[in-house]
Parts: sequence; structure tokens; C-alpha cells
Amino acid sequence: MPSRKTSRERIPEHVAIIMDGNGRWAQNRGKPRHAGHRAGVETVREVMEVCGQQGVRILTLFAFSSENWRRPKTEVKMLMELFFTALNREVRRMKKRNVRLRIIGDISAFSNKLQKLIRDSERLTADNDGLLLQVAANYGGRWDITQAARKLAARAVAGELRPEDITEEDMAASLSFPDVPDPDLFIRTGGEMRISNFLLWQCAYTELWFCDTLWPDFGERELLEAFHDYAGRQRRFGRIAEQVEE
Ligand code: IPE
Ligand code: IPE
Ligand code: MG
Repeated sequence: MPSRKTSRERIPEHVAIIMDGNGRWAQNRGKPRHAGHRAGVETVREVMEVCGQQGVRILTLFAFSSENWRRPKTEVKMLMELFFTALNREVRRMKKRNVRLRIIGDISAFSNKLQKLIRDSERLTADNDGLLLQVAANYGGRWDITQAARKLAARAVAGELRPEDITEEDMAASLSFPDVPDPDLFIRTGGEMRISNFLLWQCAYTELWFCDTLWPDFGERELLEAFHDYAGRQRRFGRIAEQVEE
């Protein structure tokens, strides 16, 4: 794979991606939807490698949303099987490439076998200090905010915290991966212009980038295009341009 380092441009530290368009990619080729999901795994590998080369520190991929259970049973079953086989196969490569894997989301809904594989894979790569790859599985932004609210409510009931003292920092610290900075760049492939219950709290000030390319066709060229676009943006966080330029 050719590696073009985007020279001296500001690289996003944390990139979050909604990998969308697998089903349409397959249907366009007269294939069943699951062929698209399988092809999508190849894209994950490429995107992971390019992010590592470019110096991205954290990559968060939306693999299965809390709403995706609403899909036909056969597709859900197939996605679970693919998650298992892809994880089983790729985790050794991750270990070799110094990638640390973390699954975010409510994994208690998965089979015991898959939960065990998730725990084993996280453990196997736990000492790696290269790219942190977060795979969002049975994840929903509203789920995350709700579970955070539950933790804070429990602390309040236990008398550890007064409701009027709850801060945005307390809330952020109760979300499911509080040790990671908010995404700098959000990418969605597949042409839809929506967030689909991904990282709701964490994307408050994230730069958004959308493309029509279906996920299996996405690759280094488009990823670098998104990075280049990001590098040219001015992030103001509520301030005015002159303050940011100072
Ligand atoms: C994204 O591709 C993968 C998952 C949601 C698991 P889709 O399966 O949503 O593909 P389209 O949007 O139907 O083309
Ligand atoms: C979002 O894609 C979830 C993932 C990519 C895992 P969907 O294809 O499920 O999103 P909607 O339902 O079209 O918004
Ligand atoms: Mg979709």
C-alpha cells in the first residue's frame, strides 16, 4: 500500500467513522448484503493501517449500533458471526502492529462466546502503545449518556454527590471511554448526512466530513482527502477567528 504522509499538515488525533454503505455496495453488484459486510472488513484493515502511518492516535469505528438489532434476524446473525470471525482473525495482526483494541458499547447483549473473545482480544493487545482502535458494537450515543446518568444518580443516592454539584466534567467522566479526548474528525461514508446515534456527547465540537463513497470502496485516497480538508479548517470552539489566530 503506498504511504503518502500528508506533509506537515495538522493530523486529527482522534478520528471517528460511521462505516456505512456495505449493503448497497453488495446490492449494486447483485450480491447478498453480507458480501458487503465482508468486503467492509478489508476497508477496516486499510483504514487502520493508514491511520497508524499518519500518526492518528485513536480511531473509533461504528460497527453495530444499538438500533441495528431492528434489522432482519438473518442479517443480525450474520453480522455477529462476521464480528466473531473477523476479530478472531485480525487480533494477531493488531498485536503485531502495536494496535490496542477496545470494544465500546453494551457487550452484555452478545453471546458468551463473543464476549469472551472480546475480553481475550482486549487483553492480548492491552500492552500495545500504538494506535488505539475502538470498535463501537451495540453502541448508541443515547445509551452512553443514559448509563452515565445512571452512575451519577447512584452516586447522588449514596450521598457522594449533590445533584446541584454535577458538572459537565462529571458527566464526561461517566461516559464509556472517559480517558480518550473527543473526536477531532468525524467521517461518514455512504452518502447519508446524519449521526445515527453515534457519539452524541463527544461530537459536540467535532469537525464533520461526509462522502458518497460506499464503505467497501473507501480507502487511503479518501481518508487523506478528509484529513486534508480537516487540516484547512479553523476550530473556534465558540471564540472568534482573531482570538484563535493569536
Ligand atoms: C453499514 O452498512 C454496516 C452496518 C450498519 C453494520 P449498511 O449495512 O448500513 O449498508 P447500507 O446503508 O444498507 O448500504
Ligand atoms: C449506522 O449505520 C450504524 C453503523 C454504521 C454501524 P446505519 O446504516 O444503521 O444508519 P441509519 O439507520 O441508516 O441511520
Ligand atoms: Mg446503512
